[in-house]
Amino acid sequence: MSKIAPPRTYRVKSFGCQMNVYDGERMAELLGSQGIAPAPEGEQADLVVLNTCHIREKAAEKVYSDIGRIVKDWGREDGTSPLIAVAGCVAQAEGEEIMARASSVKMVVGPQAYHRLPDMLARAVDGERVTDTDMPAETKFDALPARRKVAPSAFLTVQEGCDKFCTYCVVPYTRGAEVSRPFADLVDEAHRLVDAGAREITLLGQNVNAWTGEDGKGRPIGLEGLIRELAALPDLARIRYTTSHPTDMTDGLIEAHGEVAKLMPFLHLPVQSGSDRVLKAMNRSHTADSYLRILDRVRAVRPDIALSGDFIVGFPGETDAEFEQTLSLVDAVGYAQCFSFKYSARPGTPAADMDGQIAAAVMDERLKRLQDALNRDQLAFNRASLGKTCEVLVERKGRHEGQLLGKSPWLQSVHFTGAAAVGDLVTVELAEAGPNSIGARLV
Ligand code: SAH
Ligand code: SF4
Ligand code: F3S
Repeated sequence: MSKIAPPRTYRVKSFGCQMNVYDGERMAELLGSQGIAPAPEGEQADLVVLNTCHIREKAAEKVYSDIGRIVKDWGREDGTSPLIAVAGCVAQAEGEEIMARASSVKMVVGPQAYHRLPDMLARAVDGERVTDTDMPAETKFDALPARRKVAPSAFLTVQEGCDKFCTYCVVPYTRGAEVSRPFADLVDEAHRLVDAGAREITLLGQNVNAWTGEDGKGRPIGLEGLIRELAALPDLARIRYTTSHPTDMTDGLIEAHGEVAKLMPFLHLPVQSGSDRVLKAMNRSHTADSYLRILDRVRAVRPDIALSGDFIVGFPGETDAEFEQTLSLVDAVGYAQCFSFKYSARPGTPAADMDGQIAAAVMDERLKRLQDALNRDQLAFNRASLGKTCEVLVERKGRHEGQLLGKSPWLQSVHFTGAAAVGDLVTVELAEAGPNSIGARLV
């Protein structure tokens, strides 16, 4: 075992969902609390954390090619390379293979164990190769340092894991069972986020609307109870949540959309397919119709709600007619934006062994048709917003002199030029619609 010099700089690269982004930020803060500094842009870091995603294939292959690139680009004359740690969902699913295949990787750490990074790092510096993919009973959240400075729009993980076991999905295996963080901890963390500069908080979970807890008086509450509590924070202007599951879309949460002004008019509610036979084979526990009824109820209390979803094309056995049902559902909803994916067979999931795996060319064609329809609707939604006056939370500077970027209440990317600062909530008129963003004027 040869010792390594303790790292002075780090870089964390996160892939995948927003929960990974949140975890990446927390790992960065944890390394910062150990006196390790973020490496300047474009410069070599002594420690590189690859915070990986396992949701679709090639994810693991991407990890190996990233490792290769780090060694090649940043390798040192003495033959050493930066200390590489693989974190996230590929680490959880394939930690042993990574250790066996990539000798330059010194640490493998799963999504529920990263609060132990400092200890792992000490061992790695001593020359050990360390793997920790435990899902310990003590939660990582209790062991993480307090947050100091955050962006105007901050993430707060309130729930982790998934018990739904959709037949195509790895998340129940990589993130474990559904666990809700306690109410008091979340209220406390939200206070700290606001003190550290957050004006908007997005509550995160793989099934965020499955969150349950007890309020300050010991009464059982769901996500809407937490949202109502956070809405009382004076300096918090906006609340969002993602990702939700149709089954957990309770009456109380729907009502909150009509009653809590700080809850933004945006709902990301994945549906995956418009065919009931496919939905059943996916183990989705909702039908196309029950999904549409939920959207009707949300629209009844919040008519301007912007809707978003996730779709998978080419699930095993999906026929042309079943795919057409997905297109019909898209037409019926009129989404503001969406994510759509080709089905990817994931090792260990039931769907990977199903008959009727769909040819790549068929999937390509279906994805293109679906995306054409979704892009059409997104542009239509953006065009329909023109002339509206709304608030934008300024998140960062744009590429052009004086340009500022932020989000509308409906989560559209908005750009404008004018006197405002990052973190300001400004009133604008939406003036020019593109497919992916809107140009606005300060009013
Ligand atoms: N918990 C969330 C989704 C998490 S994964 C939910 O159920 O809504 C994000 C999206 O990735 C899913 O909604 C699905 O559309 C897509 N996805 C998951 N597994 C996939 C697979 N094996 N192939 C293709 N897309 C997949
Ligand atoms: Fe995956 Fe389904 Fe759970 Fe979402 S609900 S994380 S798609 S198993
Ligand atoms: Fe990917 Fe893990 Fe998120 S597999 S989508 S990073 S939960």
